[in-house]
Amino acid sequence: MGRYLLCLLAALVGSGALAESDDNGLERGRYLFQAANCLSCHTDFENDGQPLAGGRELQTPFGSFYTPNITPDRDTGIGNWSDDDFIRALTEGIAPDGRRYYPSFPWPAYRGMTRDDLLALKRYLFSRPAVRQNNRPHRLKWFVSRKTLGLWKWLNPPPERYPGDTGSRGAYLVNVLGHCQECHTPRDIFGILQLDAAFKGNPELDAPDISASGIGDWSDEELSDLFTDGMLPDGDYVSGHMAEVVDYASSKWTAEDRRAVIEYLRSIK
Ligand code: HEC
Ligand code: HEC
Repeated sequence: MGRYLLCLLAALVGSGALAESDDNGLERGRYLFQAANCLSCHTDFENDGQPLAGGRELQTPFGSFYTPNITPDRDTGIGNWSDDDFIRALTEGIAPDGRRYYPSFPWPAYRGMTRDDLLALKRYLFSRPAVRQNNRPHRLKWFVSRKTLGLWKWLNPPPERYPGDTGSRGAYLVNVLGHCQECHTPRDIFGILQLDAAFKGNPELDAPDISASGIGDWSDEELSDLFTDGMLPDGDYVSGHMAEVVDYASSKWTAEDRRAVIEYLRSIK
């Protein structure tokens, strides 16, 4: 009994010490993870998949992509990746073995993340439970292949800065972490973002214009309600893709970040 108590005490003291020391940036990593919404694409919620173990089907005009396992499992996930492997994947779209990633992974947006933020994000991801689950191959149209991705990348160089980008906190949340343009900017038939119409809406996804002209009639409070719980000014709720953005990302923003996003959207002509 005495020994048991002693062990318990040691455990308590141990955990106290851990809580007091810096959490190694985990909280910051978690915030970035949410703002960038890594969870929803990499989890097959529909089929009760394990968080981040992948397997979610993403339907696109180019075929179906199945997201990979990004848990720290060493065999089937990314547990063996170094910091530089992770940074290269998210900022250059290149795998540790040299394969190029399809832009269905929004790395062209994440490319703008700072190195410190990428490392905090990786630390958080690696603190999540490892899940053993093999990746499922994509089912793509015949004309889509990794071999042409170099060409795609050449045609579609991710911009250093998006047009009208002020480098502000709002711009970082919208263009980089929130990858809002992936849905709200129209694309041409090659899937290339039409940046001269940035934020003017993508009819194929039913994503509306969210530039200053699109949200001109909305009050700050209405926008804030939308980002907090998905409510539209008419009392209805957003659905589909945007409902996921609200659930996993924008509802987690601090009030300050919410204000920064609204201010930035209003600045886009
Ligand atoms: C819109 C959906 C989507 C979002 C959001 C998304 N991913 Fe992915 N991710 C993908 C797809 C699809 C692939 C596979 C691309 C391919 O096969 O070329 C992928 C691939 C990856 C890979 C490569 C894994 C491997 O085994 O090679 C990593 C790492 C990754 N994502 C991490 C992240 C992180 C971290 C976030 C959040 C910052 C994130 N993803 C957000 C769709 C997404
Ligand atoms: C995966 C695609 C996707 C992403 C990413 C996305 N949205 Fe949306 N968004 C939509 C769709 C689709 C709608 C329409 C939803 C509806 O009406 O039910 C929408 C609706 C909206 C609306 C309401 C506009 C209106 O006139 O009704 C706003 C504002 C908005 N999004 C802002 C954002 C911001 C800011 C981001 C980035 C943090 C973002 N969205 C990211 C797809 C997306």
